[in-house]
Amino acid sequence: MNRNLQAIILAAGKSTRFNTKQSKLTEKICGQEMILYPTKLLASLGIATTVVVGYQREIVESLIRKNHGERVKFVHQKEQIGTGHALLCTQELWDKKHILILNGDVPLINSDLINSLYQKHIKENAQVTFVTAHNIDPSLSAYGRVVQEGNKIKIIEAKDDKEERKEHCCINAGIYLINKDFLQTAIHELEKSKVTGELYITDLIHNASDKGLKVETVSTSFDIIRGINTLQELWAVEQIKRSELIKYWMDKGIRFYAAQNNHIDLNVTIGAGTSIGASVQLYGSTKIGNNCVIEAFSILENAVIEDHANIKSHSVVKDAIIKNKSIIGPFAHVHSDTIVSTQANIGNFVEVKKSEVGANTKIKHLSYIGDAQIGNDVNIGAGTITCNFNGLTKEKTKIEDNVCIGSNNSLIAPICIGKDACTAAGSVITRDVPADALAIARAHQINKEEYSKKLKQPAFYGAKKVHNDTTTV
Ligand code: UD1
Ligand code: MG
Repeated sequence: MNRNLQAIILAAGKSTRFNTKQSKLTEKICGQEMILYPTKLLASLGIATTVVVGYQREIVESLIRKNHGERVKFVHQKEQIGTGHALLCTQELWDKKHILILNGDVPLINSDLINSLYQKHIKENAQVTFVTAHNIDPSLSAYGRVVQEGNKIKIIEAKDDKEERKEHCCINAGIYLINKDFLQTAIHELEKSKVTGELYITDLIHNASDKGLKVETVSTSFDIIRGINTLQELWAVEQIKRSELIKYWMDKGIRFYAAQNNHIDLNVTIGAGTSIGASVQLYGSTKIGNNCVIEAFSILENAVIEDHANIKSHSVVKDAIIKNKSIIGPFAHVHSDTIVSTQANIGNFVEVKKSEVGANTKIKHLSYIGDAQIGNDVNIGAGTITCNFNGLTKEKTKIEDNVCIGSNNSLIAPICIGKDACTAAGSVITRDVPADALAIARAHQINKEEYSKKLKQPAFYGAKKVHNDTTTV
């Protein structure tokens, strides 16, 4: 197939109906930009591809280059005056017998569809073969309507359709296979639409049919060829993609407790026996091992979660590695190249940034750990802060194996707490602590005997004060 076939993807349009100013082709669907769906599909089929770019061309081009290198060619459509004109701009590059043309905003198409389009085209020896689908929802009537009268076939654009042919539920998918020889003549015969002033690629169907040439269609399910012209349509398509992915992972042995409100990106992987709670969102290149528990409302982005780990509810793990059997959360935030080793425990309201946490180490309550290297079997008391920023530079904290940091410590970096050392609760540690030492760094306590009784006397606060009213002192 790829030997006598080349593909053109139309991606120059202004995305006017999105109302976002951004090209819709760079919007992500389950973590991958819309335009990369057709480019990757064609690359997987080995079909040489040209993309027509125009609106926000630099952004679209660099995105494709980043993924395909120099294998994809680009043609610039300077003025966006219709899909027919976009195709016309590529004529210099037509060098194969059949030209496959795809709209860039139809991301759910698959290789089966391209194969059946090609097979039909070749088998029927057609000049033009295009994909159709049935859509009975009149609110989605922006599609071109396929109208057959006798042995003639044409596509009428919704915006040009004076007869409001809503009963015509056969729509044009925007995927065409056209013989180069026919195209080379017909492309110059396109006329501007009287309504929009644009050149429509769809008029090629009419042209071929009028000349008595063979026009064939391949019908497919509407969901596969849903086009995206609005944010609502983007949402609908992403919903379909997301469901596909979730169903795929269900079949691999993953339990989704409330699949209807989970999100999962294309490149996420999950091991068998893992369970995913309600509203969990899995983004980017997140990899989850076997038999993990990811509890409700947690968000994982580019995270590596090893086997048997438990991410408790409402936790955020981003760009971090959580090793075997560790427990994170609830309400923890672990991010920025952090590594949490085996069986460690990062508890509630703990933030860990750019740090390494050793095996069996526990940081269970209300702490901030930043730019730190923490050894194995360390216990960090509640409310501990690594004071890593002096206003100008970020400094490192090192805590060696088996250290016990008392509650409510401030560890002023740069600092090192030696192996087996302890720090007293409430300490502000400003200097290194040697191995095996106990560091106490807090104000001395003074106990004034019997003084409390005195405090409770009305006279203590002056004659005007009401008994027991100490709050206004
Ligand atoms: C198009 C079809 C319609 C079909 C629908 C399927 C035409 C005239 N209509 O309508 O029959 O049912 O797709 O989804 O083709 N583009 C350019 N240059 C331009 C204009 C558009 O490159 O000057 C690109 C867009 O970026 C987009 C694609 O062509 O990727 C289709 O354009 P769009 O405006 O989405 O066409 P539809 O109105 O959806
Ligand atoms: Mg469209």
